Amino acid sequence: MVEIQVNSEHTYQVKIGLPFRESLEKILTNHHKTLIIAPRSLQVQLGLHHSDVFYTEDGEAQKDIATVIEIWKILGEKKYGRKDAIVGIGGGATTDLAGFVAATWLRGIDWYAIPTTLAAMVDAAVGGKTGINTSSGKNLVGSFHSPQEVIIDSEFLETLSDRDFSAGLAEVIKTGIIADVTILESLNQVRDLSGARAIAHELIAKSVRVKAGVVSDDFKEGRLREILNFGHTFGHAIEKREKYALRHGEAVAIGLIYALYLSESQLNLDPAFSQSIKELLLKFSLPVGIVDIGFAELFSLMQGDKKSRSEELRFIGVDQVAHPVWLESVPESIAREVYDRIIQ
Ligand code: GLY
Repeated sequence: MVEIQVNSEHTYQVKIGLPFRESLEKILTNHHKTLIIAPRSLQVQLGLHHSDVFYTEDGEAQKDIATVIEIWKILGEKKYGRKDAIVGIGGGATTDLAGFVAATWLRGIDWYAIPTTLAAMVDAAVGGKTGINTSSGKNLVGSFHSPQEVIIDSEFLETLSDRDFSAGLAEVIKTGIIADVTILESLNQVRDLSGARAIAHELIAKSVRVKAGVVSDDFKEGRLREILNFGHTFGHAIEKREKYALRHGEAVAIGLIYALYLSESQLNLDPAFSQSIKELLLKFSLPVGIVDIGFAELFSLMQGDKKSRSEELRFIGVDQVAHPVWLESVPESIAREVYDRIIQ
């Protein structure tokens, strides 16, 4: 088992390679009452015998205020107090939702994250960002509220579909681009998705180490943490435009290419590097471009993204691997030129 510490409003451990059932037992023993939130699609696999379980819809649909209200009602009826806890078992949408419920109930109760997808293991469940979506955009309502522990049990990866595993790799590749070239080197060496699955433990540990370091330095995203948003300004716009039909990681994969092309144009990034990332994404069957859906709509969605300030478009770029650069006000004309390059 590998333990990685995160220092935020409190210190907690991300435990990689720990059987989740054992950890769950301990959590249930340590709290008088615990509400487990998990997607209904995991119900059979989890086989939970606990009394307080709330099953959600899959994916982003669960990150909705109506779901939160339903859960608040249960917590009220069951008289959940400050010493009680929430456990989120699922992908990033579930851990975001569970964390948000925990952040808002009684102004914040303990919660634990048990991510079941690669994307949630390497990104969403680590770092204390919790939230839900609104009709205006993704994660626009939320709170920084760190879990007490993140338990990563690779057993879940065995049942994860290839599509979901690939989607998670987009976040792993993002981490490699912004902070750790050895991640990219390892992924370059594997032949295909099953090769990547074989080194999942190493990829997770390296990605979590980067994320833990960044979050520990800048929990509330004053500046440094923004580097984790590489590829996400365009990625979130695509996700929203496609009504969350794409996996988050698939939208991020397109966003990575967008951010790399922007970096070529604004930071003289070597085009050979963008090409190598494009090939890596394609090796794992991730999308690297889009059909023309109209720049104007995506531009407006990017302006609405919470990472933009006022009407200005802000991006994270790289001028070389592991060297992020803040692009503070990208003119619309440049954003459009880059858009034209990713149309397939
Ligand atoms: N997913 C980006 C962050 O946690 O800051």
